Amino acid sequence: MSRNAIQRVAVIGAGTMGLGIAQVAAQAGHSVQLYDVDPARTRAALAELAERLALRVARGRLAEDDRTALLARLVPAECLAELAEAELVIEAVVERLEVKQQLFRELEAICGEQTMFASNTSSISITAIGAALARPERLAGLHFFNPAPVMKLVEVISGLATAAPVRDTLLALARDWGKVAVHARSTPGFIVNRIARPYYGETLRALQEGVAEPGVLDALMRSAGGFPMGACELTDLIGQDVNFAVSTSVYRAFFDEPRYRPSLVQQALVDAGRLGRKSGQGFYRYQGGQPEVQE
Ligand code: NAI
Repeated sequence: MSRNAIQRVAVIGAGTMGLGIAQVAAQAGHSVQLYDVDPARTRAALAELAERLALRVARGRLAEDDRTALLARLVPAECLAELAEAELVIEAVVERLEVKQQLFRELEAICGEQTMFASNTSSISITAIGAALARPERLAGLHFFNPAPVMKLVEVISGLATAAPVRDTLLALARDWGKVAVHARSTPGFIVNRIARPYYGETLRALQEGVAEPGVLDALMRSAGGFPMGACELTDLIGQDVNFAVSTSVYRAFFDEPRYRPSLVQQALVDAGRLGRKSGQGFYRYQGGQPEVQE
């Protein structure tokens, strides 16, 4: 199927990434369905987007007509069966292999032969997700970065079985959506999440050793290190649970390679429900969108 044949896009998971990806696809003119296992999440996500876009209209960055048209193209789905007509289904649900496998298995029974499947997984093997499918050749990774409407890079990931035309269609589609699309083979962490892992890991180790407070480490990496964000504020943005799940997955996938060992400090944040911006507290507290250094 060529990229021009993709009119209807379904996005599964109305969290941080799913909503952003749905916005990108709707902005590009597709009819988009957004589905979440929790319908309240879908409603809240769409309301949040409507508000965010209203703010852009108020600031003169978006025409009201364009806002209305974009929101009209993006509709909630009540159940998976409603996604039967989609030509492309992009999954952005929780980072767990068995959940993603189960989801695609259900979708295989619902969608047509031509439907392409994509996973926004940060670290799970596309080959492993595909192993659960009768036709794994139609599955690829389509890995956006957070926030999806802003970040330019998209990694298109081929598993062992991914068909070349599926890979090429997704590369072309992502470029049509204004992204810089890069192809990578499915290896643990793909490209960015593998290379960035030591940045998070070393920061967390420094914290565990009491080297300095999060605010100091972040400020130094920004001002002296030249990084746009320190690892503490960045993991708060990503979600401590998501970052921890990715670290654990990359660590295990490299046969317990010590360089990638997950951090007890981060595990404690996850156990405490301090997931970062999305929960109002992580390394920092967030009030009205502004971070406060935590004592
Ligand atoms: P999130 O926690 O914000 O949202 C996940 C959503 O999926 C939730 O609304 C949840 O209700 C829903 N969900 C869970 N199981 C489901 C199922 N079986 N069917 C339908 N909906 C289901 O997570 P986030 O951050 O959006 O991450 C989603 C995926 O994107 C993960 O695979 C993650 O690794 C990946 N990712 C995350 C990035 C980030 O910075 N947060 C960046 C790039 C990829």
